[in-house]
Amino acid sequence: MSLVTIDRRNGLAYVTIDNPPVNSLGRSVRKNLLLACTSLAADKEVAAVVVSGKGRNFVAGADIGELGQTPSEPFLPDVLSAIENAPMPWVAAISGVALGGGLELAMACHGRVADRGARLGLPEVNLGVIPGAGGTVRLPRLVPMADAVSMITGGKPIAATHALDIGLLDRIAQADLIRCATALAQELAQKGPPVPTITRPCHSSDKIDWEAVEKQMKQKSRGAVAPLEALSSLHTAAQAPASEALSAERARFLRLTTSEQAAALRYVFFAERAAGKSLRSHDTPPVDLRQVGVIGGGTMGAGIATALVLAGSQVRLVERDAPVAEAGRARVAQTIADSVKRGVLAQGAAKAAIARLSTGSDYAALADCALVIEAVFEDMAVKRQVFSRLDAVMPAEAVLATNTSYLDVDALAETTRDPARILGLHFFSPAHVMKLLEVVRGRETGARALATGAALARLLGKVPVVAGVCDGFIGNRIMAAYRRDCEFMLEEGALPQQIDAAMQDYGFAMGIFAVQDLSGLDIAWAQRKAQAPSRDPSARYARIADQLCEAGRLGRKTGQGWYDYASGAAKSDPAVEAIIQAEQARAGRKLRSFSAEDIMARILGRMQAEGAALLQEGISESAADIDVVMVTGYGFPRHKGGPMYLAAKSSSEGKDA
Ligand code: NAI
Repeated sequence: MSLVTIDRRNGLAYVTIDNPPVNSLGRSVRKNLLLACTSLAADKEVAAVVVSGKGRNFVAGADIGELGQTPSEPFLPDVLSAIENAPMPWVAAISGVALGGGLELAMACHGRVADRGARLGLPEVNLGVIPGAGGTVRLPRLVPMADAVSMITGGKPIAATHALDIGLLDRIAQADLIRCATALAQELAQKGPPVPTITRPCHSSDKIDWEAVEKQMKQKSRGAVAPLEALSSLHTAAQAPASEALSAERARFLRLTTSEQAAALRYVFFAERAAGKSLRSHDTPPVDLRQVGVIGGGTMGAGIATALVLAGSQVRLVERDAPVAEAGRARVAQTIADSVKRGVLAQGAAKAAIARLSTGSDYAALADCALVIEAVFEDMAVKRQVFSRLDAVMPAEAVLATNTSYLDVDALAETTRDPARILGLHFFSPAHVMKLLEVVRGRETGARALATGAALARLLGKVPVVAGVCDGFIGNRIMAAYRRDCEFMLEEGALPQQIDAAMQDYGFAMGIFAVQDLSGLDIAWAQRKAQAPSRDPSARYARIADQLCEAGRLGRKTGQGWYDYASGAAKSDPAVEAIIQAEQARAGRKLRSFSAEDIMARILGRMQAEGAALLQEGISESAADIDVVMVTGYGFPRHKGGPMYLAAKSSSEGKDA
């Protein structure tokens, strides 16, 4: 198979990159592309070239097999430079995605057209690097500097229509992409020798306050260096001659490739791809997900229904009675309307999504759904009743799932005739946004139910991680464990705001106490009360959180929790400090001062110990899965890889030393 083909027709050449599945720019593709470029440059019969990708996509970027390795020749910048300096115009015909090196290739061409549905982006920062083949130098020569800054430092792909607006595309194909590209190629050929992008002037950056942007970005990136390096690279592009900016960019790229952060980000990237693989079965297909039932239209049920209708499924939402069902519908509608307001969803798509939702209080309406997800109150008796009712109305082959945070999935499965069809599908709030889905495998969960969990994750664009049944599965169990340790630290002299600040400095989105205030202190309180009878009386137990709850401080929703929210923002509260001091005195431990390092060492140590226990008990299938849970669901800084990654790293460094 040839990875790059050339088809000469009517004085033009059509170069097609054919490297399934996504036409990544591996070494052989680069080599063949360079050969094509050299042979076409010498061909006097060819007036212009159209380059496209075979199949659905143009080029999705680098070959992931080569990620993190020392680049091998021919280097992408050299291939792109050859294309850019070709004697005839090259036009990129972009279908599907043009990402990373793929977009850099398109930018080295002399013209760009795309399908309406195409997406273009430079996502390198997500892997801890920056574009390394001219992306930071060519992009601000095509689009305003502010757009280049946002695309490269944010790493999010943009839609073709947006790309056209800012000048990254010359045209959007209304019908046939190659025909549209051909027309542009012919027009450019008429205009004489093509103008290399790199010789264009850089868009002005006069309006950009680089220092202010850097400051803002430092806050947002929480310790990740790649976005800041990308910003510096763009700043260089704005000031230095293009050739200098190109070499500076390449040097930065190569330095970052071997950085600790890039290694950690690559690890998470591969861990996410591997997650949930064991759920898929060759013999057992998932159930049909075109029609899904959701029971409970509160925070989670409405979020799950939103995710489903946005992904194209019909959803039947069942609540306790008609008015509550209507409130559930309103919740979904509000979330979708907010997405339209924020510009992330088109009006038409929003309308179509809402039309896929039906609500009511009759369980019989669920009978034509092949999957039902329950998200009712976190109460075993209520959930058991729901499952018995479902068992009565649902066809035998339907899969039934619970979104419980802590309850025993096996005990729920007992309420049905066929426990093989029960599993846990633990979503995270907000369910239409958060990428993590814990797929809880009960003792008797069958292959069809598991395959359905994997298929649902794929449909919703989520990362499925398999967990066994235990209190809190993977994520909540680790969180409960380190939260306990944080409360012990309070008894020993630390303050909530000090622990939260240490976590945020480390790179967490929020500290543990602020997180509790946001999600409400009552769920964990209920869980502690439920566990109380079986608790070992000699085990250490911190009572501070219980006392806050008893005082009605349930978090943001009551205006007070670990912090006071009277002013709208979280403020430390003397009343909380008084409770802590009283408990310090009661516990009678020696008080000490805690540095941020002490705090983080204790938190990480606890996460790692609990992670090791989860592996030993067989609750989690791999250390990488645990890291995926912590990074995608619990705000652990992605560029640090995750607690288990860090543990493995420090033990191997220990061995090396
Ligand atoms: P919620 O209180 O906001 O919503 C529960 C809904 O269930 C209410 O609207 C209620 O009317 C409805 N409901 C109760 N009994 C019902 C019945 N028999 N039939 C139909 N509907 C019924 O609670 P939330 O926060 O949405 O939690 C729901 C479940 O999701 C719980 O199991 C919780 O542990 C779990 N969960 C919650 C997360 C969160 O962040 N809130 C995260 C992940 C899981």
